[in-house]
Amino acid sequence: MGENKLKTIGILTSGGDAPGMNAATRAVVRAAIAQGLQVKGIMRGYKGLLDEEIFDLTADSVSGIMMNGGTLLLTARCKEFMEPEYQKKGAEICRKYGIDGMVVLGGDGSFRGAQKLAAYGINTIGIPCTIDMDITCTDYTIGYDTSCNTVMEAIDKIRDTSSSHERCTIIEVMGRDHGYIGIMAGLAGGAADVLLPETYDGNIQKLIDHVREKKERGKLPALIVNSEGIGNSAELAKMIEMATGVETRATILGHIQRGGRPTVRDRFIASMMGVKAVDLLLEGKTNRVVAYKGGDFVDYDIDEALAMQKSIDPEWIRAYDLIKK
Ligand code: ADP
Ligand code: F6P
Repeated sequence: MGENKLKTIGILTSGGDAPGMNAATRAVVRAAIAQGLQVKGIMRGYKGLLDEEIFDLTADSVSGIMMNGGTLLLTARCKEFMEPEYQKKGAEICRKYGIDGMVVLGGDGSFRGAQKLAAYGINTIGIPCTIDMDITCTDYTIGYDTSCNTVMEAIDKIRDTSSSHERCTIIEVMGRDHGYIGIMAGLAGGAADVLLPETYDGNIQKLIDHVREKKERGKLPALIVNSEGIGNSAELAKMIEMATGVETRATILGHIQRGGRPTVRDRFIASMMGVKAVDLLLEGKTNRVVAYKGGDFVDYDIDEALAMQKSIDPEWIRAYDLIKK
């Protein structure tokens, strides 16, 4: 590691929270302090930066948070930060507080903010935290496993009541543009079908035929996972009920998917990524995002990372189609 002038780093969490953000915060703070740096916590993402909600963090400030979902530093969305005037102000505030390196925990929107801070001279590193798993450069984003487990447990519970009543249930899960939660939790929960924003062709007849066929085989319930990006679960339920005569309900899981105690996978990856982010700052790197790729913790240029296109592995979809019945 080369000589560097880094003395103080800042850390903020931004955009949608994700289980494991606290574990990553803890790792960043402790790894930085253990290597002689000072750490300042910024509350409420870029909003708190502009409002100068900045305070000193010690290794003890992050005790007892690893097992909690949400984020100790709180999070917010900040429209102002989309404008160059405020991005420049953010960088000036960092300098005022002696912050010469910044770690941003969030999704792709937050990384666009990080890009801007880097452009205004603050060495900035992003850590991918989102239940949606929609950051292309990485095989894993913090929060995804916990969220999938929550959805899988919900599917198990819905199956109990849905089988007792021999019903069909549409279970709507998060994911505006990507169906990563839907496909993994749907597969693990044994749902009969999953509708993904990536592949949905609007062919409701296929679903209706599947539900009817399950009814004829005496194999109800029919659990169908739908993605937020497709939506209209209540309407879908009505159409299926009308066409098949199978009583159908819709359950929108909502923000329950963003909370809860992070799983071991989320805590472990968050810890490793937190340490990696500090290493990158100590190496004098900026405008990078930490990634988990092929089993290794690596980093990418944020501009390149944001330009990559992500799509669900076709093998996951093939497996789903082969296994479902
Ligand atoms: P996520 O990080 O979960 O994708 P958002 O897309 O809501 O969440 O982004 C979080 C915040 O990041 C925004 O409220 C804004 O403050 C900042 N941000 C998003 N896009 C940009 C951008 N193009 N330039 C600067 N800041 C941005
Ligand atoms: O990015 C995570 C996510 O939970 C998405 O799946 C969802 O579309 C969105 O955030 C909801 O955000 P909020 O309710 O915070 O506006």
